[in-house]
Amino acid sequence: MFRMIFFSSLILSALSLPVAAFAQTTDLAKEWDAHFATWLTISIVVWLTVTIPMIYFLFKYRRRNKDEEGAYIKGNAGLEAVWIIIPLIIIIFLGVQSWSLFLKYRNVPEGAFEVRVEAFQYGFEMIYPDGIRTINELRVPSGPVKVSLTSRDVIHNFAVPDFRVREDMIPGTTTYLWFNADKPGEYNVYCAELCGPGHSGMRAKIIVMEMEDFMSWFKAQGEGPAIPAEDRGAELVDDLGCLGCHSITGVKGMGPSYRGLYGSERKLSDGTTAIADEGYIRESILNPGAKVVEGFDPIMPEYNLSVEDLDFIITYIKTIK
Ligand code: CUA
Repeated sequence: MFRMIFFSSLILSALSLPVAAFAQTTDLAKEWDAHFATWLTISIVVWLTVTIPMIYFLFKYRRRNKDEEGAYIKGNAGLEAVWIIIPLIIIIFLGVQSWSLFLKYRNVPEGAFEVRVEAFQYGFEMIYPDGIRTINELRVPSGPVKVSLTSRDVIHNFAVPDFRVREDMIPGTTTYLWFNADKPGEYNVYCAELCGPGHSGMRAKIIVMEMEDFMSWFKAQGEGPAIPAEDRGAELVDDLGCLGCHSITGVKGMGPSYRGLYGSERKLSDGTTAIADEGYIRESILNPGAKVVEGFDPIMPEYNLSVEDLDFIITYIKTIK
């Protein structure tokens, strides 16, 4: 009987080991997976220890005839001690293990590269030392990285599954997370907090580069001539995913094309008209439902962009004639 429990536990523990073999990139990720495997293994062992004897006893001590009565058992101090002490040891072990992993998540290694990320509806703006900024693309040198997080509007969440980290981004306060990006490559970032109709499109990339490559990219950002406003606008429109709905060729998409937009007269769905000047474009980004062009559904989410970014985008749209 006990041999049976022992061997089935062993087999199931072995089955749970591959869990630890999913793609891992950071030290934290490895520790997280080991932690998960430990919990899973213990849960399976406990479950089997309870379930197998239970099924066996259900069968063994079933009522065989109508007049049969169960034995009266008054208690067993030894058994009670065992089922109090063993779970107590397991719970203390798991508690200590969880607490030590939590501390690793909270303690950023010395010398980590530091970067700040501000969330907005709908995107992430990365702010590097020296004030360099990118949207929806975070470049970091390989090694430990500390990311300070905040939000300009509602609560978002910065989640990087490959690194096994996620943290809320809360307006008015700064939170943080860290990860060890030891392998150069691209990793996906998702907003993991329902933040409005554009939530599902709120994604970014972390690009981990060798230190040398990162330094040359970083220097180029800082030293190169300031890029013209319209080029910056074009980058933003691309990074924010605007082109998924708005073409620059004149082709009608889910939303009106940008071609020939600026200065044109727009027929609106409420029968009125409006001139597409700077104010109109700004309003259409911040509050797309205010003036919906005839023939289109009011499906665009509000984009809570900074004043500077709005100006860059408007400057760019003006050039698409
Ligand atoms: Cu931001 Cu969901």
